[in-house]
Amino acid sequence: MSERLGIHADDPFRGRRPTSHERMTGLPWDASYHDGPAPWDVGQPQPAIVQLASKGGFAGMVLDAGCGTGEHTLYLASLGLSVLGVDVAETALAMARAKATDRGIKVEFAAADALQLERLERKFDTVLDVGLFHTFDRDERPIYVASLASVIENDGILYVLCFSDEGPETGPHPISQEELKAAFNPSAGWNVVAIEPDRVQTNFHDHGAPAWLATIKRIEA
Ligand SMILES: C[S@@+](CC[C@H](N)C(=O)[O-])C[C@H]1O[C@@H](n2cnc3c(N)ncnc32)[C@H](O)[C@@H]1O
Repeated sequence: MSERLGIHADDPFRGRRPTSHERMTGLPWDASYHDGPAPWDVGQPQPAIVQLASKGGFAGMVLDAGCGTGEHTLYLASLGLSVLGVDVAETALAMARAKATDRGIKVEFAAADALQLERLERKFDTVLDVGLFHTFDRDERPIYVASLASVIENDGILYVLCFSDEGPETGPHPISQEELKAAFNPSAGWNVVAIEPDRVQTNFHDHGAPAWLATIKRIEA
């Protein structure tokens, strides 16, 4: 009965197919948030995103895909933007909501699968991905890219901050520029405007890890 109603009380994946990362680790993403800060959860927004915002990079309705404990969602909301943060990890979302209350920031968080964003039935002008794209394998990427395309307005901007494959001390899921361009290609409805070298701060790199900051525009496929 509960299955028929879509209730999955004992299922850590809540009825969705585990991602490649979850299959590889044998754990749901939620488990990353059970025992102290996750490796990427640095307690503040990434400097690359702060700089992007200071240059006016965010406008309109903003979606933070794979928001974790919400530092970017909260930061952008604190600037006066309307932001929705989504994640599959309920523990992270609970932490994000608690931070919003503590900081007195009006913002929205929701449990949602980034591979099925069309279920949100909403559209966004700007979408942010910090550390999510690089967790998806080659089979998941086209699904994620189509999912993003379903929620972003035409001419909307997507930012992807991911580990890069260039430089010393690369992160655990290094991505090449070619992989970004292949995933976000014109026939899938995207124009890669820029891919710039940057850094991602983590709890296991002293000065961050090499990253790409990709600016990608939604176009007619
Ligand atoms: C590397 S963490 C980055 C979190 C956050 N953006 C940050 O910078 O702290 C990746 C996040 O994506 C979430 N995630 C992974 N697969 C997801 C999916 N299919 N849908 C939504 N969120 C997902 C994880 O739960 C995790 O919180």
